[in-house]
Amino acid sequence: MIGANQQQSHSELALRLVFERSPDAILLLDDGVFIDCNQAAVEMLRAAGKDELLSLLPSDLSPTIQPDGSSSAAKAQQMIAVALERGHHRFEWLAKRRNGSEFPVEVSLTSIPFLQRQILYVVWRDISRRKEAERELAKSRESDDAFRAGQGRVLEMIAQGATLSDVLASLVTLIEAQSEGMICSVLQLSEDGKHIRHGAAPRLPEIYVQAVNGAPIGPKNGSCGTAMYRGQPVIVTDMLTDPLWEDYRELAKLSGLRACWSTPIFTGHGKVLGSFAMYYRQPQAPTGSEARLTEVATHIAGIAIEHERAQNELQHTRSELAHVARVTTMGELAASIAHEVNQPLGAIVGNADICRSWLQEKEVDLKLVAEALEDISNDGHRASQIISRIRSLVKKHVPEKAPLNLSDVARDVIGLVGHEARRKQVIIHSQLGESLPAVEADRVQLQQVLLNLCMNGIEAMHDTDANQRQLTVQTVMSNGSVLAAVSDRGMGIEPAKSEQLFKPFHTTKANGMGMGLAISRSIIESFGGKLWAESNTGGGAMFSFSLPAGSQEIQ
Ligand SMILES: Nc1ncnc2c1ncn2[C@@H]1O[C@H](COP(=O)(O)OP(=O)(O)OP(=O)(O)O)[C@@H](O)[C@H]1O
Ligand SMILES: [Mg+2]
Repeated sequence: MIGANQQQSHSELALRLVFERSPDAILLLDDGVFIDCNQAAVEMLRAAGKDELLSLLPSDLSPTIQPDGSSSAAKAQQMIAVALERGHHRFEWLAKRRNGSEFPVEVSLTSIPFLQRQILYVVWRDISRRKEAERELAKSRESDDAFRAGQGRVLEMIAQGATLSDVLASLVTLIEAQSEGMICSVLQLSEDGKHIRHGAAPRLPEIYVQAVNGAPIGPKNGSCGTAMYRGQPVIVTDMLTDPLWEDYRELAKLSGLRACWSTPIFTGHGKVLGSFAMYYRQPQAPTGSEARLTEVATHIAGIAIEHERAQNELQHTRSELAHVARVTTMGELAASIAHEVNQPLGAIVGNADICRSWLQEKEVDLKLVAEALEDISNDGHRASQIISRIRSLVKKHVPEKAPLNLSDVARDVIGLVGHEARRKQVIIHSQLGESLPAVEADRVQLQQVLLNLCMNGIEAMHDTDANQRQLTVQTVMSNGSVLAAVSDRGMGIEPAKSEQLFKPFHTTKANGMGMGLAISRSIIESFGGKLWAESNTGGGAMFSFSLPAGSQEIQ
């Protein structure tokens, strides 16, 4: 049977073993002096042995200053006071080994009553690893945040209508910044689905970019051409040996590229739009960490390319619609135009008849004949000018920006509606500014806008007294913009309803389409301008538009 004494000595021995073998450093502090410590403490502090450690003061085991800037001595006093008061205290501390190196520890102080004194049971746990992991985590959170913010910026560029090449270049630069030594590119698939089109590759050599642009896609056409063809990622770890690069080997060598991993970019409906590629200058296989970058890049590039295609389609539909509206307006003007062309033709026929009769006379007055021929030629030119103006309005064309003089455009339109105005007893006053700065716009589209405003004005004066029917066309420079205004003396507009007139299919005319103003506004806005309506001070309505003035002046 074990006696009570023997039992106690067993448990003391066990306690001693726990103290000695503990992986945490344990020290006993009595009134500022170490009275015992375990082997882990000796090792943690790199002391020569237990005796050396016990000969040291607590201040020898800390740098003078703690990371928060406070003095170690003062702070240690404070921590000990708290532990004595509460019985226990735990805190982080910067400790110093015997070799002078510093390391972070978590300190736990427990106050133990012993022979009418309070002994402090001190446990130090090395938290270097934890701190390192915390730092790493904070760093990766920071770079994650920066990467997410970068993605946000690229998406914002798309929303704000930046050009596709700018958007893709920013995307590529963002992805490249996430991994050292990586060069990226985005390629597009041509609309016919057969060829590669350049997208963005700000860091790839120019010869490489040029050679790839226009190359066909296929089952053995490098990484990107093959990825687009298969609709699947293609990983080439060494371009100098892979059979997919057989036809492009020299190009790869010249460009100093060795590895190329390409992933197709899809529409939301699974159609291939292009490819995103990662290149390295040495043979390399993916490690897995690139998957997330590829996912982000293909997703955003897909949005950007689809957005641009949708914009182009919208633009195309708009110009088709504008064309239909132009043809309709010309249809309305047909009678007037026929008359306009008829006039010079009639004069030509008349002059030709006179010439013929003169030529039958014995003495031909050649001077008179020459004058008549001159008239014939002038009338012929006038008729052909009218026809070419009409043709350019009726012809389908892709809108193109060019520097234009708004007064010239207004003159063209006044010429076109002149006869219609006379027919309806409307007098046109033109007040066209000289030496206006150029505006950047499409001539035919601006003609269409002014034509619609003039026709609307003429039609609005249907019930106005014949002697009051006046249409004024003005062009002026105003606050850095070039302004055109068409005012009439017609029925006017209710200010509260002036915005409604611009809605598609809003019309008060029996044979109107109600698209004129809606199309006109979208045309003006597409050139960065504004179109609005207001009441004319002298009665009637005034429709104006402004366009940004270019730096060029056009005479
Ligand atoms: N100068 C004006 N004075 C008064 N009302 C006007 C004037 N211009 C346009 N409006 C009103 O705005 C409506 C819309 O004009 P808009 O040019 O868009 O279409 P529309 O002339 O009716 O038809 P179209 O598509 O053939 O041009 C007109 O029907 C008319 O009621
Ligand atoms: Mg109209």
